[in-house]
Amino acid sequence: MKYGTPVVLTGLGAFLTLLAAAFAQDTLFAQHMGLICAVLAIATVVLLRMENFSAAPKSADLQLEYMDTVIRYGVIATAFWGVVGFLVGVVAATQLAWPELNFGPYLNFGRIRPLHTSAVIFAFGGTALVTAAFYIVQRTCRARLWGGGLPWFVFWGYQLFIFMAATGYLLGITQGKEYAEPEWYVDLWLTIVWVAFLLVFLGTIVKRKEPHIYVANWFFLSFIVTVAMLHVVNGLSMPVSLLGTKSYSAFAGVQDALTQWWYGHNAVGFFLTAGFLGMMYYFVPKQANRPIYSYRLSIIHFWGLIFLYIWAGPHHLHYTALPDWAQTLGMVFSVMLWMPSWGGMINGLMTLQGAWDKVRTDPVLRMMIISLAFYGMSTFEGPMMSIKTVNSLSHYTDWTIGHVHSGALGWNGMITFGALYFLTPRLWGRAQLYSPRMVNWHFWLATLGIVVYAAVMWVSGITQGLMWREYDAQGYLVYSFAESIEAMHPYYVMRVVGGLLYLAGAIVMAYNLTMTILGKVRDEEPFAAESTFNPASDKPLAPAE
Ligand code: HEM
Ligand code: HEM
Repeated sequence: MKYGTPVVLTGLGAFLTLLAAAFAQDTLFAQHMGLICAVLAIATVVLLRMENFSAAPKSADLQLEYMDTVIRYGVIATAFWGVVGFLVGVVAATQLAWPELNFGPYLNFGRIRPLHTSAVIFAFGGTALVTAAFYIVQRTCRARLWGGGLPWFVFWGYQLFIFMAATGYLLGITQGKEYAEPEWYVDLWLTIVWVAFLLVFLGTIVKRKEPHIYVANWFFLSFIVTVAMLHVVNGLSMPVSLLGTKSYSAFAGVQDALTQWWYGHNAVGFFLTAGFLGMMYYFVPKQANRPIYSYRLSIIHFWGLIFLYIWAGPHHLHYTALPDWAQTLGMVFSVMLWMPSWGGMINGLMTLQGAWDKVRTDPVLRMMIISLAFYGMSTFEGPMMSIKTVNSLSHYTDWTIGHVHSGALGWNGMITFGALYFLTPRLWGRAQLYSPRMVNWHFWLATLGIVVYAAVMWVSGITQGLMWREYDAQGYLVYSFAESIEAMHPYYVMRVVGGLLYLAGAIVMAYNLTMTILGKVRDEEPFAAESTFNPASDKPLAPAE
């Protein structure tokens, strides 16, 4: 039986979650388990219907092929979660602009916001990272993914985690830690999936045919190992009952806050940075058809990032109950982080040395290059915002939101789009994308969307910060908090416009990728003529006098 193990696992899972729903200690747990049970039961039926019960046909030796089907699923899932995550972002932005659009209890801002952050970071970003890691580690090691069906478990297990987290938020289940909202049982499930991910990745590296471990794999490995450590430590908690949603964190007070932001900042450092740098180190040289600019620089900035990021978390807790020395430590390490971050940007950009004309003729490469520009921008802005005096203005304001989105939309979003455009024709054996011109459209829609979003948030953030610290001659605050909120309205409307542009770009991409998968080619003018050197049009030397 081809699907023997998955059928047993999903069937058993459905049975156990049914039991958990039946004996639940609280209604929310019963509802959540009921939903998970339904999904697992449907999966079991689908798998049984796909099963071929006759004797298994003799198949070719799969060990000689790369394991690409799981990566194809990953490409589709990434594009899907991207569109969903951006759409939920637009909904959240709309609710901030027009609060009457909060429809409680399931669709109010308090539940939509974590739905958005998890959908974009963990569903879109996470699926992209798993997919890219599986593709890249096979190619750079010249080895098939290790573990038999384990990569499939990682893929579907991770999708189940996303489903559990998302439905949990909508039901109102949360442990209230930003970017780590899911409750204890969802955390445990993710831990199992993540360990399997680590095993597949390490197993493939161990059986590699290539003596050298390419630098992209260093970044992926640091991302997988560190995220495991962060997730386990920050998630340490004691459930009230094994059949209930509620749990209590192992930490309290300022220790809890510090652990949370040690987690939070390293989620930026290892999830949104190291993992995506792994993607950058493979896809940029491949698309540009050039070797990476400096291997030495890649090693130096790798270790720089690893050593510095882990100390920078306290910059999220400036002017709080955290001891002053710890805040200053966080600030100093954050400022130092600027250098290794720019090491990565420079290495990526300089890979195009001597081939810059390709940015004009290749829209996919252009997408990758702008992602590096945004990476450089947000890793300059971040160290600046971590300086205590700057943070006293920016903290709690929309400036932070602007910073987040220039990094997230610009860096994580654009490099992922570039990777999807790179992977789709190759994985489905198509000669080219359905429409390079549509990639260009996507590029401009997304870039314009980011510029509108980030610029508007800078203005609104600095306005907020200045309004909050404006005192009159008697020492009274000039503006009430409500007045500062009222002043934000035009900016929040403009953010909706920026978000819609970005979302529109993603929909164009989804269409382009779908048509590429279907094997269609759009009838269009070539995107740009190849720029070949023409000696005849070169200016001849003046004859000697
Ligand atoms: C169409 C695109 C997007 C729109 C319209 C959008 C909108 C929003 C809105 C309205 C918020 C809440 C802000 C607040 O509470 O004041 C938010 C928060 C957030 N978004 Fe997005 N977003 C988009 C794309 C993304 C992407 C692609 C990512 C990451 C890959 C992302 C990551 C985040 C994060 C991390 C936060 C929390 C920020 C914080 O707490 O400081 N967003 N987004
Ligand atoms: C050298 C690199 C970076 C440094 C030193 C840095 C520093 C900072 C600082 C100081 C804050 C504001 C903390 C506050 O006032 O609450 C912040 C917020 C944030 N940054 Fe960065 N940043 C860097 C790069 C990035 C990148 C590349 C991304 C995304 C791809 C990113 C994502 C975020 C997010 C999501 C938050 C909001 C956290 C929250 O929910 O409050 N950062 N960062």
